[in-house]
Formats: sequence, C-alpha cells, structure tokens
Amino acid sequence: MKTSWLLTLAAAFCCIGGINADLVDDIVNAITHAVDCASCHALLLPLAGLALIGDGALTGTITAVCKALGVEDDDVCEGVIGDQGPILAHDLRSISPFGRTATLLCEATFGLCQAPAVNQFKFPLPAAPVNPKKWISSGREPFQVVHFSDVHIDRDYTPGAEVQCTKPICCRNWADAAGEPIKEAAGPIGSHSCDTSTSLIQSMLHAASIQENSFSIFTGDVIEADIWLVNQNGVTSNLKQFDEEMQTIMTNSVFPVMGNHDVAPVNSFPRNTSDGATSSQWAFDVQSSGWSKWLDASAIDSVQHMSGSYSILVPGRNLRVISMNDIYWYKANFWLFDSDNLQRDPNGILTFVAEQLQAAEDAGQRAWIIAHMPPNSGDALHDQSNYFDQIVRRYSNTIAGQFYGHTHRDEFGISYSDYDNRIAENAISTSWICPSTTPRSGNPAFKVYDVDPDTFEVMDARVFFSDMNDASFQTAPQWTQYYSAREVYGAAIPGGWPATTPLTPAFWHKVTEAFERDDNLFKKYLEFKNRGINVETCAPGACKDQALCQLRAGRSESNCQVTTPGLNFRRRDSEESHKHDGRHSTIDHCEGTGLGTILSQMPGKMAGANIEGLRQKLAEQSIQWEGVKHQT
Ligand SMILES: *[C@@H]1O[C@H](CO)[C@@H](O)[C@H](O)[C@H]1NC(C)=O
Repeated sequence: MKTSWLLTLAAAFCCIGGINADLVDDIVNAITHAVDCASCHALLLPLAGLALIGDGALTGTITAVCKALGVEDDDVCEGVIGDQGPILAHDLRSISPFGRTATLLCEATFGLCQAPAVNQFKFPLPAAPVNPKKWISSGREPFQVVHFSDVHIDRDYTPGAEVQCTKPICCRNWADAAGEPIKEAAGPIGSHSCDTSTSLIQSMLHAASIQENSFSIFTGDVIEADIWLVNQNGVTSNLKQFDEEMQTIMTNSVFPVMGNHDVAPVNSFPRNTSDGATSSQWAFDVQSSGWSKWLDASAIDSVQHMSGSYSILVPGRNLRVISMNDIYWYKANFWLFDSDNLQRDPNGILTFVAEQLQAAEDAGQRAWIIAHMPPNSGDALHDQSNYFDQIVRRYSNTIAGQFYGHTHRDEFGISYSDYDNRIAENAISTSWICPSTTPRSGNPAFKVYDVDPDTFEVMDARVFFSDMNDASFQTAPQWTQYYSAREVYGAAIPGGWPATTPLTPAFWHKVTEAFERDDNLFKKYLEFKNRGINVETCAPGACKDQALCQLRAGRSESNCQVTTPGLNFRRRDSEESHKHDGRHSTIDHCEGTGLGTILSQMPGKMAGANIEGLRQKLAEQSIQWEGVKHQT
C-alpha cells in the first residue's frame, strides 16, 4: 500500500479530468527554484505526481523540458528519457520525496544534495587468522598480465562521417545532419569524439595478444555511448560479437567483468527486490555463455546466478580472480533508489566477494579483485563503498591487487587501515585503474603488469598506447610502450625504489607525496592520465588537493569530492567549451549522456530560458496526459 503522501499527491493532481495548469506551473517553478537539496526534494513532489499518472506523463514532461532547454538534440532527449525515465517514475512512485533515498536520488540526478552520511554498519566477517600467511617472493621472473578496459565499440563507426557533430558520439551519418557539409571527416581507423571502430578494437586485441601474457583482464564496457539508441537486441549482439573477437584473437584466457554499459537501458541492473522489474538476467545469460571459454563450470554458473559476478582460480597459478559486478552500487543505476528500506548488500554481491576471499585465505591462495567501477570514484554510493572497504581491510593480506576501469583514465587509488592517518605505513591495498581503449577519452591504451609468480604483487605497470597523431594511425596503428610506472615514479621517491620490491600500496602513497612536492611530476601524471589528449589543468590548491585526496582513497566517502550544483555546472560548462573547439562533446565519460547528465543540467539552463514558451510546451504536453492510464 502506498504511503500517505502518495494519497495526498493523488488527491492533488490525479483528479478526474486530468492535469490542470497548476501542475505545469508547479513543475516549471520547482525546476527554476531547484538550487539546493531542500528545493530538489520539493521538485520531486510534482515529479512524483506525474509518475503517479503514469510513466508517459513523467517521461513526456522531462523530454519536453530537455528539448525546450536544448540540453541535447531532440532525438537524444527522447531516447535517453524514454529509456531511463520509466525507472525514475518507478522510483518516484515507490519512495517518499523527503527521505534518505530521495536525497541519494537528488545527488545522483540533479547533483543538488550531498551524499548523506554513511549508514554505519559493521559488515559481518570472520575473524582474521592469528598467523596470517606470509607472502615471500623467491625472486623468479615476473609473468605478464594485460589489462584493457572501456572498449566502447561502435559497430556503426563510419569513416568520412562528421567528427564535430552535435551528438554525444560522432563519426556516424546521423539522419538529422544529412546534407550538411562535413567540417572534419572521421578517419578510417578512429577519431577523438568518437567511439572505437571495429578495426581499432581488432588492432588493439592483436597488440595485446602479442604481448607476452599469461592471461588478460577486461574491466568492462563493451557497448558504444549511443545510449539513447541501445536496446536488448543491440546490446546482446554487440556483447556476443566482442566475446567472439576476444576468443579468436586473444591466445590466452581473458577474465572479464560486467560494465554499466553492458545492459539496456544503460546502467540498469535492478535489484532482486525490485518487484516486477524488467530483469537484466538476459545480460548475465549472454555472458555466462560468452565467457565460458575461460571459466570453469562453477564460475559459469555464478555469472548466471550471482548477477554477473564470479570467482576463478587461474589455471596453473595460486591466484584467485574475483570478478565483482559493482554496478549495484553505482549512482547512475536508478534502480537503486526504488525503496526507502535500506539494502546493505544488493543481490548479495558483497557477501559473495567476502566468501570467495575467505575461501582463498583458507586455501592459502592470493586474490585479485576485478570490477568495473573503482570504489574511490565519486560514482560509487558511499554505503556499499564503505562496506566493501571493510572487506578489503579484513582480507588485505590475501588481496594482492584490485583492478578497475570506468573512468577512462589512467589513475589509481590507495586503501588505508586508518583513513584519519593516511600515511605510507597504513597503506594496505592498491586499485589499479586502466585507461580506456575508446579514443573518446584520449589516445587508446592498455596496461601490461609484470607480476611476481609467488606473491602475485605487481612489479611494474607499463602502459601501451597508439598515438593518433602519428601518420600511421589511420592505416596501421602502432602500439608502443608509453611509460613504465616503476621508471617514472620510482625515480621520484627519495632514495629510489629497490628493484626487487613490488609497487606496493606504500609505493603509491610515496608517489602521491612526490606529487605534493613536485608539481611537474604531478603534471606528468595528468598528461599520462589522458594519454596526452585534453590534458586536465589541475593547479596547486583546491583542485590538486582534491585530486591527491582521491588518489589516497579506497572508498568514495574519503575522496574529498563535494557535490555542489555550481561545481557540477562549472564542470559541464568546461566540457561545453571543449565542444566548441570540436574536440569533445558534453559527455560524462563514465555514464555517457544519461538521464543523470541531462537532469543535472536543467536547473542551470532555466536561467535565461524562455519560461513562457516552456510553460506552453508543457501545457500542450499535459493534454496528452489526459486519459493516460496509470502504468505501474
Ligand atoms: C536476493 O539475493 C540475495 C542474495 O543472493 C538473496 O539472499 C535473497 O534471498 C534474494 N531476494 C529475492 C527476493 O530474491
């Protein structure tokens, strides 16, 4: 039964005869005045009123606002909101607009609330052993592991198509731009502003497969960023095609993860408690078969029944790879906001990971965690990121590394035993974050780790890339070593870093201290981060402090990110300015242009908008709501 506020709402808005002009006014006013967390909650009230009328009323209204404000091209507004809006409608019908879940929703969509304080909870874990196993290297030669991520393959990439288009991704012949003169033609292999062509991904896989490597890890996001067009059929065939390419080209095993783009609508992995929700089971089914070449029977079963997560002992090695679907704590997965009841461990993923680590500890194995979204990212919900961090602390002697993608950047994160005292001695785990293949976020790249065969710790991380400015790129891309982490950063540590010592969490902490002292080294890091393209400027002061804080975090609550509308809009404004020089579109790299990116721009765009025109559009829209059936 619905709560009382819903009945009040229904009485106010859902009168026989449909919507009145008051609701239109309420919505326009509420969006105009949505400037802080309280007013965001207030905005959810009329939006919930629309959702009660039906999915169509809510999606129709938001679409009309999106178009009227010119947030995106009309087809993008329609596609994104048409796909993801019904999830938001389901949320708004299911929660109180004034509760904690609504605060999370306001943070994730409009960017108007801060993340609420972590719901403190001691995640239940068995006690640590009295005599933990000591991991000692016998000094044997390291073996190699390739890490690639965020391939975002656009099977409709069209050489010769416009690079400087108005859509979130370009290099396709968009119908609404037909006949317009081409300002910059897409190259045969790839272009910035565009996702990965088939020839580019095949070139990358070949380059990765000829690296000496024992196995590869792939940290997710197969699908291109045209998320306003994706559907189950398209995603299914794209996942299958890439699985086949990996099976054919990669000579050794690949251990993949689920990414937020590897489902349709984008990001949408409903929890198993979402009553009657469209399930994402089909995506798990596709991958449990698509990944079966590299997994054993138990892992294949787990992909299907543990929401895409699995655990596997690497053949011939004393190393367990635990692949975790962490999109169940990704902010832009709007299914996570459909209940006021706290769910500490959606779909049991954290419990599964803890069990696998316990099994590894019991068996004297080391473990690597692989997943899509890094837990220190601003995209990770604080609660689950905190609970996961507790697991990392408990099993830090077993975990030899964590490996992620999602941000498209070459970066890292450090977990500590004590976040009030982030020093090298307290550093207990490293998150290795892989740059993307998609050229949308810099020159395409992948990492090769040199791994100690006894301890499974990383001795060196070498990044390989293909320089798109090189003349050969558009005919036969060359993949060369860009830099070695040990070479560049080891030299910056006072006294150097001993050749036989792995790149430990303490090493990375000392690297952040070197960044603090030496701004030129920090600039070098920023250059590496995007592989020399669209390099961020991040000056000493607030920007650099936040960046260092985020590197010194293994959980999102400790990354010093503050959600403020001003900051959000400034960030997006600076992305806008890239768009004008044609190098970049308004894309949020992790989400693509999703419902969140669209909604977050709306309040800012109300200033200077034609409010009367918008009112009129919504009034026309409201006529269509008449007689719309409640579609819960
Ligand atoms: C959801 O998944 C968890 C973990 O596997 C399980 O314990 C729970 O019973 C499931 N709930 C439903 C409603 O299926």
